[in-house]
Amino acid sequence: MPDSRPSAYTSETIELLSKRVSVRSYKPDPVPEAMVEAILKAAFRAPTSSNIQSYSVIVVRDREVLRRLAAITSNQKHVAEAPVFLAFCADLTRIAFALERRGHSIADNNMETGLVSSIDAALVGMSASLAAESLGLQGVMIGAVRNDATASAKILDLPDRVYCVFGMCLGWPAEAPAQKPRMDYASMVHYERYGAQRGASGMAAHLAAYDAALAKHYRATGRATTDDSWTHDMDKKFHPWLRDKLRQQLKERGFDFR
Ligand SMILES: Cc1cc2nc3c(=O)[nH]c(=O)nc-3n(C[C@H](O)[C@H](O)[C@H](O)COP(=O)(O)O)c2cc1C
Repeated sequence: MPDSRPSAYTSETIELLSKRVSVRSYKPDPVPEAMVEAILKAAFRAPTSSNIQSYSVIVVRDREVLRRLAAITSNQKHVAEAPVFLAFCADLTRIAFALERRGHSIADNNMETGLVSSIDAALVGMSASLAAESLGLQGVMIGAVRNDATASAKILDLPDRVYCVFGMCLGWPAEAPAQKPRMDYASMVHYERYGAQRGASGMAAHLAAYDAALAKHYRATGRATTDDSWTHDMDKKFHPWLRDKLRQQLKERGFDFR
């Protein structure tokens, strides 16, 4: 069962994270540009692999751009309606420029380049989310921009060697969803070496407990589910493989991932 024991330590940041939840409905009130700037400036202090800072963020408020982005995300309503949408992009253009200046090329980049730039973008994105929530904003990350990485790049006018890793809808919350339970702490944290759930029986017990907790949560919030809630959702999501054109689309954008 999910662990609901209080932690021995707390802080404003821990409180903020402990309460966080994805919010997909917003009041029409605007999010001031100065607030977005404060959020992003703080987020850009996130650690960045080898100081490469290989990310860019597109701040989107234009309704037509948001409508077109929403279409890529299987028409997620919150994307079309977000007061502001931040597109977190992996960006290799600066590294490409630096290498060219020194007579080299980034043309045949590899898995590491794609990975670190995507990790950088994710660290900035999560930091921005936390900074936004500290100001009372709430939102949701949007990975569905990768349903079509080529189309999202076109809509956002991204140059070669830039792709949108994920977006984030932000606004003043118009709903207060119940938190989804997380998996059991003891099943996720190991000491000194990977320990728990080795073997099928440990895994079966761990996931059966989580399936039951998630099914209970979904039923309490009026969402249809199955008794094997999480197991069922993962199978539905990843079989057949999700976004199997992505590797080719990212290659065309200048990320080799090989
Ligand atoms: C990288 C990333 C991409 C996501 N993409 C979407 C998305 O496209 N649409 C959506 O409604 N939620 C999206 N989510 C939100 C997750 O569904 C959500 O975080 C998860 O179900 C847990 O719920 P919680 O955030 O309320 O705890 C995304 C989250 C992450 C981290």
